[in-house]
Amino acid sequence: MNAIPDMDGRLLLLGAGRMGTAMLRGWLASGQPADRIVVLDPAPSEEIRRMARDADLILNPSTGKLDDISVLVAAVKPQVMDEALSGIIPALSAGTTPLILSIAAGCTIASFKQHFGEDAPVIRAMPNTPAAIGEGITGFAASPEVSNAQKNMARALLSALGEVVEVTDESLIDAVTAVSGSGPAYVFLLAECLTEAGMRQGLPLELASRLALATVSGAGALLKASGKEPAALRKAVTSPGGTTAAALEVLMDDQEGLCRLMERAVAAAARRSRELAGKKN
Ligand SMILES: NC(=O)c1ccc[n+]([C@@H]2O[C@H](COP(=O)([O-])OP(=O)(O)OC[C@H]3O[C@@H](n4cnc5c(N)ncnc54)[C@H](OP(=O)(O)O)[C@@H]3O)[C@@H](O)[C@H]2O)c1
Repeated sequence: MNAIPDMDGRLLLLGAGRMGTAMLRGWLASGQPADRIVVLDPAPSEEIRRMARDADLILNPSTGKLDDISVLVAAVKPQVMDEALSGIIPALSAGTTPLILSIAAGCTIASFKQHFGEDAPVIRAMPNTPAAIGEGITGFAASPEVSNAQKNMARALLSALGEVVEVTDESLIDAVTAVSGSGPAYVFLLAECLTEAGMRQGLPLELASRLALATVSGAGALLKASGKEPAALRKAVTSPGGTTAAALEVLMDDQEGLCRLMERAVAAAARRSRELAGKKN
């Protein structure tokens, strides 16, 4: 992950579940001083409690006052975000509003401004599940109030989850959600479908599943390691008149092929993302 720039104040992590913990691991591993990180979570996992014991992480401070917070990473579920923010805002020290960095699906920049004021610097980010092993990708959009230094800070913090890309317009977060946020599920489904199709060709379940899983993960690893375009790799393994060409003729059908299906699936996810964001505000 990228080195985290020196922080003026402290970092507050609101919600230490799967995503929060993945980020925390990365921050601590990259040398971020644990005593500059405050974690709030009503039922912290054993791992988080161990970090608090062994690494001086500040967990659920009882002082009532959250002094000197310069970055608030909001990593609770969207449905509890408003309640969680309302619970901490009175305890934040008055004065400068911290950078708000949210990874919550469907929580818009405007929804944070309702809590922190119109001038609050807010970043809305959308990670994905491979973040759990540092192999995710996060797209983010920043409100105009976010300074370049704050953006660099956010990039570094999010890089604990994998790659980080910026989109210039918040409305594109719905498309990011539809492609990479929900995308891992499409790939898992591909492995399921490939297993089932293999069984229909006579393979026993265990063997079909092993072949499909290794193929999906191996192809993904090759795609990443080679640095080549997927289309170039596809063409390289497709001999004219061969077996791959026979399959691709079906998969690349203009009307019923995978591209058309994926277009509809991604459009459905983007539409749902817009609906959910609309509902929250
Ligand atoms: N997981 C993904 O693949 C993914 C992808 C993209 C975006 N996201 C977003 O990332 C966020 C976190 O997701 P997650 O998968 O890490 O969820 P999670 O595992 O449920 O983590 C959320 C954590 O917040 C805690 N919490 C609940 N109320 C709180 C409060 N008032 N103050 C502080 N902490 C509180 C929860 O505790 P309890 O469990 O005790 O309630 C839990 O430990 C969500 O907003 C989600 O939309 C997740």
